[in-house]
Amino acid sequence: GSSNSSGRGALVVLEGLDRSGKSLQCARLLSFLQGKGHCAEGWRFPDRGTNVGQMISAYLANESQLDDRTIHLLFSANRWEKRGLMESKLLSGTTLVVDRYSYSGVAFSAAKGLDIEWCKAPEVGLLAPDLVIYLDLQPEKAAERGGYGGERYERIEFQKKVAEHYHSLRDPTWKVVDGSLPMETVEDQLRELATNCIQECNGKPLTNLTW
Ligand code: TYD
Ligand code: MG
Repeated sequence: GSSNSSGRGALVVLEGLDRSGKSLQCARLLSFLQGKGHCAEGWRFPDRGTNVGQMISAYLANESQLDDRTIHLLFSANRWEKRGLMESKLLSGTTLVVDRYSYSGVAFSAAKGLDIEWCKAPEVGLLAPDLVIYLDLQPEKAAERGGYGGERYERIEFQKKVAEHYHSLRDPTWKVVDGSLPMETVEDQLRELATNCIQECNGKPLTNLTW
């Protein structure tokens, strides 16, 4: 694309509970950015298309059982196996709009009772996002939205714990967007945040996640 051909792309991450609207908003943000002439791709984690991703997918569908630490490391490995491609895309000027990232990894595993520092450790050295947008929605409201799909973590009591851990992970650089606002309002806010981010990261080096 022309708009960011002179610099690197931005790593934009959307986080939030299940049914918070992330996937829809990622898709809408992506088509907005592409329509503006940006070179942009939509990514998601877990990436179910790899061998590791298939193990994760079976676990989420309750078709396999895995120890809590083992599945945690598989989610992390699923990001590590994509790190190289992610870096080359960003450096060649492609902006990535990513549906879930390391913060999901930590919040969901910590909600099971795993030590949060232990959960963070395998994420260190992955690429640091340029922008983290948290779609904030009460677990009760998320559950009301057409229900959950029946995967392993899609239960309200568990989602409440996840929300608490997301809360403790938040830092002042996160942009928290009220996910209960009308879809178009959320969309407008995301457009502005992402557009500013893409401009600002022109010339800024890529860095690694350190927490
Ligand atoms: P989700 O984004 O809901 O995938 P899909 O849209 O394909 O259903 O992710 C599936 C679940 O995996 C979700 O409940 C969050 C959880 N998860 C983790 O526990 N750890 C992780 O590192 C990631 C990326 C997701
Ligand atoms: Mg889901």
